Amino acid sequence: TRVEYLNYEVLGDHGWELTDEDLFEKAAGAPLDDDDYGELRVEDNQSLLEAAEDDGHAWPFACRGGACTNCAVAVVEGEMPTPTSHILPQEMLDRGIRLSCISSPVSDEAKIVFNVKYLPGVNELLL
Ligand code: FES
Repeated sequence: TRVEYLNYEVLGDHGWELTDEDLFEKAAGAPLDDDDYGELRVEDNQSLLEAAEDDGHAWPFACRGGACTNCAVAVVEGEMPTPTSHILPQEMLDRGIRLSCISSPVSDEAKIVFNVKYLPGVNELLL
């Protein structure tokens, strides 16, 4: 899977919202660091977090087991199923929030905002 990623932390700097239709187009046109915006490949046997680490990025995590939400990401485009055992409530799943330590995208392409642990609703679950 080819993943286009964007750091949630830069949204505020640019006045962008997670719900902006053209969020990734705007990110592509902005002078962003490779750590904040870019592309990476996720192999079939990898979690998204592992793929990001293999690509040289330090995305947030703590438990690596679906129990803390430090590794939360927002799936803007693409399919990223989640295993049954994890801490996220259905309401978060409905908003496209996933845990990068225990899941990875299954669609050929995906657009993912990482580092969303401080997003309202997710931050309340942080351990
Ligand atoms: Fe704790 Fe992913 S690192 S849920």
